[in-house]
This record gives sequence, C-alpha cells and structure tokens, in this order.
Amino acid sequence: MGKVVEKIKVINVFEPEREIELEAVIDTGATMLVLPQNVIDKLNLRKMREVKVRYANNKTEIKSIYGVVTVEMCGRAGEFNVLAEPEGAQPLVGQIILEQLDLIVDPSTRKVIPNPRSPDMPMVEVLMATPPNSGSLTLIQTPPRQGFAYPQYAISTYRKRREINATFRCNHSLAEVRKMLGNNDVDVVILGDAYIDFIFLDVERYPLPGEEIIVKEFELRAGGSAGYTAIALATLGLKVGVISNIGNDFLSSWWLDFLSNLGVNTTFIKIIKSSRIGAGCVFLHRNDRSFITFRGANQINRELPLPDNIHTKFLLVTGFSQAPYLWQSSLFDFLKGIRQRDIKIALDTNWSIGDWQELFKKILQYIDFLIINEKELKKFAKSNDIYDAAERLMDMGVRTCIIKRGELGCKIIGERGSQDIPTQKVRAVDLNGAGDFFNAGFIYAYLKKGNIKTACQFANKCARIAISHFYLKNKIINLKNLRGEII
Ligand SMILES: Nc1ncnc2c1ncn2[C@@H]1O[C@H](COP(=O)(O)OP(=O)(O)OP(=O)(O)O)[C@@H](O)[C@H]1O
Ligand SMILES: [Mg+2]
Repeated sequence: MGKVVEKIKVINVFEPEREIELEAVIDTGATMLVLPQNVIDKLNLRKMREVKVRYANNKTEIKSIYGVVTVEMCGRAGEFNVLAEPEGAQPLVGQIILEQLDLIVDPSTRKVIPNPRSPDMPMVEVLMATPPNSGSLTLIQTPPRQGFAYPQYAISTYRKRREINATFRCNHSLAEVRKMLGNNDVDVVILGDAYIDFIFLDVERYPLPGEEIIVKEFELRAGGSAGYTAIALATLGLKVGVISNIGNDFLSSWWLDFLSNLGVNTTFIKIIKSSRIGAGCVFLHRNDRSFITFRGANQINRELPLPDNIHTKFLLVTGFSQAPYLWQSSLFDFLKGIRQRDIKIALDTNWSIGDWQELFKKILQYIDFLIINEKELKKFAKSNDIYDAAERLMDMGVRTCIIKRGELGCKIIGERGSQDIPTQKVRAVDLNGAGDFFNAGFIYAYLKKGNIKTACQFANKCARIAISHFYLKNKIINLKNLRGEII
C-alpha cells in the first residue's frame, strides 16, 4: 500500500499549553503512539512505566512509557500513552489510536478517514451481554416524555454510559446521582436557556447564495447558557440542577442525556411535546462569533411559578435574553421567594433580540450579583462610563456588579467600591461559552470561600480554559484539573 503519513496534534493533558503538530507515519503493524524523546521532552510528559517492546526483526528492548497526551487527528481526539524512542526516530501512530478514534486507512487514497459505519463520531465496540444496538456511543435514543424528565431516565442512561466507558464520564457514583435526583438537594440551581450548538471553527467569511464553504473543525454541543454553566459546575464537582425547556426530538434527548451523564439533576427540565429544542449555528471567527438561532422550546411559555421544592444555596438566572419563556411577571414571585429563603441570586442576561429589558429592570431588586459583560452593561444602562453604568443598575437594586471584560479579566463594582481583577491574556480559540465557564467558576469559588475577589480570580481562570480549547472534552479535562485550587 505504501507509506501513509498524517498530520497530528499532540497535547500534554496536564499542561495543555504544551502542544506540538507533527507528521506521523500510520503503522497498522504497531500498537501504540511512538514519539521521539525530544518531542516527549518538549511536551514535558511524565514517565509512567517501562515495557518490553518486540520489533519486526524479533529483537526485544526495554522502553519507557510516558503520559498522558491528547491526540487530535482527522477531526477526532482521544487520550493516549506514548512509547519513547530515541531522538530523531519517526513518530508512529499505531493500531490502538486508530481503533479508539474509529479511523481507518483508505488503501486507494492512502489517507486516514473516519470509519464509514460512523462518520460523524467514533463508535465504540462493547463486547458484553447488552443488545447490539446499545453499543453506539451516542445513539442512546430513549424518547422523552411529556412533562418533567424522570429521574429514572437519567439513571438508565447514566448506567448505559458507564457500561460503554463513554468519553464524558460522570463525576459522581450511581448512588450519588440517585440521591441527587431523589431529593432535589443541590448546591446550585440554574434557570435559563437550553440549546444545541452547531459550532464551526475558523469561519473566514460567509457563503454567497448558492456557494459552499468548507471548515476544518466542527462540534455539536449540548449548550445554551444554562447547559454550559451546568456542565462546568458539575465538572467542578458541585451538585447542580437545571430548570429549562426542551422539546420532543432526538436532539432534546441527547441534550438531556449529556447533562444527566455528567451528574446534573435534570428533574426540573420540562419536555414540551409540541416543540423541539432550541438550536444555534455558531460561527467562530478570529476575535468574535456570530449566530443563527432557532429558539424552539425556549420560546414556549411554561407554567410559572417555578418549583418551590428545590433546596439550594445559590440560584443563577442565565441566558435571560435568550429564553423568552422566562419573560413573565410570575418570575418576580419566584425570585422574591428565593430571596426570602436567603439564597444568593446571580443574573447574566447575555444580549439577544426581544422585549426583555423592561422585565430585566424590575427583577434587578432581587439580584445579589449581576454578572454582565462590559458592552452589555453600557448598552443597558445607556452610559459609556463603566462606573456610571454600574451605579445606575445598583440604583435599581443590584448589590454587586461583576463586569466581564474579555482579555482584561473582570471588574467588581459594589457598595464598597470597585476592584479590577486582571487575567493572563490567552489566544482565543473559541469564545463561545467563555462567559458561562466564568459564571460557573465564580459560583464554585464563591460557595467554597465566600469571597468575591477570590471568586472572580477563579472565574477568570475557568473562562481562560473555555476559550483556549476548541473541543468541549478538552475544556472539561482542564477544568477538572483546576478544581483542586479551591477546596
Ligand atoms: N483573550 C482572553 N484572555 C484571557 N481571558 C479572557 C480572554 N477573553 C475573555 N477572557 C475571559 O473570559 C471572561 C468572559 O469573557 P467576555 O468578557 O467576552 O464575557 P461574555 O461576553 O459574557 O462571554 P460570552 O460571550 O460567553 O457570554 C472574561 O471576563 C475573561 O475572564
Ligand atoms: Mg455573556
């Protein structure tokens, strides 16, 4: 067949800023990923153990195994150990990598391609006594029912995912998940929007009518501000419940399944039979992003007041401008009730089209932390001065403004004055969801330490992780590593 060479990216899982792009020979006769020692040193990998290696000439040698790296190849990614060869050796991709990423070598073109049986994502074979169709990684398709999502649903999908050792592992044991779902006792409740995001990376321009434009990276994500924040909070290890609306389509099941598997309490997600989940096409450009949005179930009025049998320490209302179902006066009663129970309330509106601003003004009296970006703050307060703008909102009842300022980090403006919390600037790969990871980091650290400055510092770090990785999986891995900083 001749030599097959592919470009791969190798990233140190524990120090994701250390990454190298290189050309590797695809060797279906080899087992592991093989890298020369100088590349391993540049990546600063940890030596894990030694193994005996047999070469094609039957000679055996003792070699070192290093770990752990993420390998990105042909639009797929997975975590692997590395076999070290001396400096100058040819990088090799062996069979384990191809199998896990579900890639095959096409002999006619001598290219590595996704396995045609599952072109959109890797399919994992599981040799166990479950029905053959349950082996696929994502096609766990239990039709949702009208009404609230049942705990039983979450538990059964949780089990399936665990069996097939899915990419997104749950942070909690089954017993913990059951307990969480059973008693509605959570650290944080998030009230907001649920969307599926179709994310296209590096879109340089838009197609003209009738034209096609190819992008190199794409990801389908279970998101919306409520979705992303819940994913980040669950990753950080908090018990989190979401109140939102989804529909009765396959993508709604997938969204629900995804969050449930991370241990998010989805008991209060309302499934609206006549609707579909909201969906957004997100185009990531060099320094910004643009959207095409279908609001779907986020638009459908659900019964408010909202459930009062949730026990929580913190409520986040997020994506307020993206979820018209929230624009009802009965939201006041809900927020009032929450405040009377001495639960802290944070609000992040984002900025979307619609008549939400009058209602927004009225709910500000219940808000402890308005977490908002600088542009939104100035636009809303109709003032170009950040202090003046914050003061106007504080006059309407907000206790503290946490103002997100992109690469400058954030600023706290409250009754006791103001404070800048700078960050370390990073190259933005994906700005979608930076604000949501920020919010999650803020809430996590605030609940752990009770200090607004510490919470903002940690929030900046979480946002940095969100924007410097494209794949959600890599964001999650890195966020998990961060949680040890605040215990
Ligand atoms: N280039 C960067 N380098 C480092 N940190 C950044 C950078 N850009 C954004 N951040 C971090 O991300 C946080 C949120 O970003 P931003 O100010 O864009 O808020 P946002 O508009 O609410 O985000 P979103 O668009 O997700 O709603 C910032 O407060 C900052 O901590
Ligand atoms: Mg925002």
